[in-house]
Amino acid sequence: MNWNISCLVIVFFLNICNGYISQSLIRWSSYGYEYLPINQSIQLLSSITVKSSRECLDACHKNNLCRIFNYETTGHQQCQLFEGDTKRLGSIILSAVSSSIVGIIEITPSLYIQYGQSCSSTCIESRYLECNVNSICECPEHTYWDPSVMMCLLQLPLLGASCDHNLNMCREDLNYVCLQFNQCGPLSLLYGVTIADINTIIDGSPTVGMDYPMGVTIYETDGESLIITDSGTAQIVHVNNADKSKSNISVLVPNSWASGETLFYPYEMFLDIDDSYKLYLCDSGNNRIVMFSSMQYVSPPPTIVINGSAGVYTQDLDKLVGPYGVKRDNRGNLYITDFYNHRVMFWSPNATSGVMIVGNNTAGNDSTQLNSPTGLFVDSYNSMLYVTDTWNHRIQLYNLTGSPPYKGITIAGTGSAGSDENQLNGPCGIWVSNKTGALYVVDSSNNRIQRWDKGAKAGVTIAGNPNGNAGSNATMLNIPNGIAINTDETRMYITDSLNSRIQRFDLI
Ligand SMILES: *[C@@H]1O[C@H](CO)[C@@H](O)[C@H](O)[C@H]1NC(C)=O
Ligand SMILES: *[C@@H]1O[C@H](CO)[C@@H](O)[C@H](O)[C@H]1NC(C)=O
Ligand SMILES: *[C@@H]1O[C@H](CO)[C@@H](O)[C@H](O)[C@H]1NC(C)=O
Ligand SMILES: *[C@@H]1O[C@H](CO)[C@@H](O)[C@H](O)[C@H]1NC(C)=O
Ligand SMILES: *[C@@H]1O[C@H](CO)[C@@H](O)[C@H](O)[C@H]1NC(C)=O
Ligand SMILES: *[C@@H]1O[C@H](CO)[C@@H](O)[C@H](O)[C@H]1NC(C)=O
Ligand SMILES: *[C@@H]1O[C@H](CO)[C@@H](O)[C@H](O)[C@H]1NC(C)=O
Ligand SMILES: *[C@@H]1O[C@H](CO)[C@@H](O)[C@H](O)[C@H]1NC(C)=O
Ligand SMILES: *[C@@H]1O[C@H](CO)[C@@H](O)[C@H](O)[C@H]1NC(C)=O
Repeated sequence: MNWNISCLVIVFFLNICNGYISQSLIRWSSYGYEYLPINQSIQLLSSITVKSSRECLDACHKNNLCRIFNYETTGHQQCQLFEGDTKRLGSIILSAVSSSIVGIIEITPSLYIQYGQSCSSTCIESRYLECNVNSICECPEHTYWDPSVMMCLLQLPLLGASCDHNLNMCREDLNYVCLQFNQCGPLSLLYGVTIADINTIIDGSPTVGMDYPMGVTIYETDGESLIITDSGTAQIVHVNNADKSKSNISVLVPNSWASGETLFYPYEMFLDIDDSYKLYLCDSGNNRIVMFSSMQYVSPPPTIVINGSAGVYTQDLDKLVGPYGVKRDNRGNLYITDFYNHRVMFWSPNATSGVMIVGNNTAGNDSTQLNSPTGLFVDSYNSMLYVTDTWNHRIQLYNLTGSPPYKGITIAGTGSAGSDENQLNGPCGIWVSNKTGALYVVDSSNNRIQRWDKGAKAGVTIAGNPNGNAGSNATMLNIPNGIAINTDETRMYITDSLNSRIQRFDLI
């Protein structure tokens, strides 16, 4: 950065009671610079008008939390005091005001030599340490001890900031802790809110409650609405305002939607928001794909996009056996995981037969094969296909440029089942972040949701138990399957299948 931080260095002596002198070094920026904190609302301590930079400095010294300040030497003569540093919590930038300068208090280990010692020494008078109930000098509020630098550093005021479990790095006054996935946030991020369960009255349903929900998809018009395939009752359910405390829940497609037409194990689905809300459904037990126009079943009636016959095993290219997941790209092509044929099928619009683009009808674990694929995710923009290769306990990625059959690379999981952080166990649903490229994997048999950052060699548990244990309280899951995340990536919905409930989690 092209600014001269050491143009003027003065040593400032602050006189506190009993004549104790606490020494700290102030560094001044050149004129025309200002401090920009990463979170102004939480880091700005006060903004006052004073006559000189010296008065601004005095004001900073009187506020134990102040580490940095902006001063306009002419004009408004505004003095802004901040908690902050120039490495992690903000930066010094060119100011629109040419008379603006920044004063930075230099923090050095020598200010902390009394840390951990009895308060009968000098920490009582120090601005940088405080005496705790056991009369030991400790880090004051908003700071934590970092043994690698032997200083108390400012806690991180940002939701989602990376943290280390062994240090007290997150702002406690904001109720942030270093969560199990090494980011600062409230513990409530680990708690799921139940949107619907076995006791929920579903408008238009002949029975009460959800029964083994599988797929979940989301659309946002006024608030967030979900569509859920409930495999046990074999109906499709609509949840309005799933992001609010009061949502309304009704049947979208009943089990029997026309004479002689009955859903049988409805699994995953795809809602094509860009193509007038066409809903493509894996009617898995009937081995077929059904399309509901405008998310309804009356008029026009649903189209059978791929014909099936229940209970028939076939490798024919115009058939499926236990279709599990379906996605559509921005050209209207369908991608379907054909579970019992261990393959991914591609259907172009209006085709009468599919193309086997991954797998060869035989379960296997080489780069061309799959073993019981379930979830899939199509990134139309980058022409990439993600597949959860369930019984190979891995996530495969395919580049769709070029012609099939495609070879996959493993981007998550080791190929063998386990609950270590680099492993998966029977993964099902998958979702890929458009912001970061991170994978969100429903690690079903581990009863947890794993986030794998792009290129990561291991995942972190963002919901459910990190060790893979099942449970039914707010922090646990039991054989989760489907996943949907809202557009701004702040909320995640999970079908917690064996608990027969839909859980909502906040995301950071
Ligand atoms: C800044 O802090 C406020 C107060 O805690 C918080 O509400 C806000 O989300 C923070 N902003 C960011 C970007 O983290
Ligand atoms: C309930 O959902 C329906 C759509 O399914 C909507 O028209 C209605 O306004 C909703 N009612 C409330 C109270 O949100
Ligand atoms: C598919 O068929 C529909 C209805 O016949 C037609 O409107 C559409 O243009 C066709 N799409 C393609 C890509 O051929
Ligand atoms: C499905 O079967 C119906 C009736 O046998 C037939 O009219 C239709 O063309 C078939 N659709 C496909 C995609 O094969
Ligand atoms: C599928 O591929 C594997 C390995 O590439 C091969 O061993 C197997 O014979 C193939 N199966 C069929 C049905 O082609
Ligand atoms: C996919 O393959 C093409 C052709 O080899 C290449 O240009 C492209 O960068 C690849 N895409 C990704 C995301 O790796
Ligand atoms: C595939 O499975 C065989 C055993 O069936 C195992 O020896 C091999 O390591 C596996 N390969 C991968 C890539 O997981
Ligand atoms: C998100 O999607 C947009 C287009 O839809 C694309 O330009 C962008 O690269 C995507 N970001 C990631 C990280 O995939
Ligand atoms: C849920 O159950 C687990 C395991 O029994 C327990 O560790 C955890 O604290 C519980 N969480 C809540 C919110 O009760």
